[in-house]
Amino acid sequence: MRIKKEQLQLVMTVDIEWIKNKLKRQMKEKRFKHTLGVVDAAVDLAKRFGVDVEKAKLAAVLHDCAKEYSGEKLLTLARENGIEIDAVYERLPHMLHAPVGAVVAEKEYGIKDIEVLQAIAAHTLGSENMSELDKVIMLADAIEIGRKNKSAVELRNIIEKGASLDEAVICCIDFKIKFVLESKQLIHPQAVNARNALLIKKL
Ligand SMILES: [Fe+2]
Ligand SMILES: [Fe+2]
Repeated sequence: MRIKKEQLQLVMTVDIEWIKNKLKRQMKEKRFKHTLGVVDAAVDLAKRFGVDVEKAKLAAVLHDCAKEYSGEKLLTLARENGIEIDAVYERLPHMLHAPVGAVVAEKEYGIKDIEVLQAIAAHTLGSENMSELDKVIMLADAIEIGRKNKSAVELRNIIEKGASLDEAVICCIDFKIKFVLESKQLIHPQAVNARNALLIKKL
């Protein structure tokens, strides 16, 4: 039997509603609401900065799919899937929810798109070679409507005033680093590397 191109496309299309329903059953209400907020923010940002809207939706909906896993489960999954566990991850395993989330998105939600998986993996700390999609997801997570903190308000403002995607992401990472400095927490070097890479590009 021959499969028509349209039929094939239908089979390959990821059902975002199925993903939402599955997440809704597994997540706390507050986290699910945050997730929906990130999807809306990601769609807006993707349109503003010319990024693929469907990929942005998919990465946004799944970005925190491993957020509610215990530290022990995150460490185990990271070990099993070849994610390097450095000294900071070992002490703050919740940070692993981003790279482990990419593994979960692939294995449990059937996501094969490497760009989407990479955006999920980089949404908390960024990376040295962030794609435009990675940047949109990191920002969407920081500015979604449920975030009421000062940093979120300021970030929304600079985007509204016409900041470039890179400027907004640098600002977002600055806020994250300031927060960990002020709360005397460990800084993961990946956030510093991501920030440096964006700044070096500007010089
Ligand atoms: Fe997250
Ligand atoms: Fe999030």
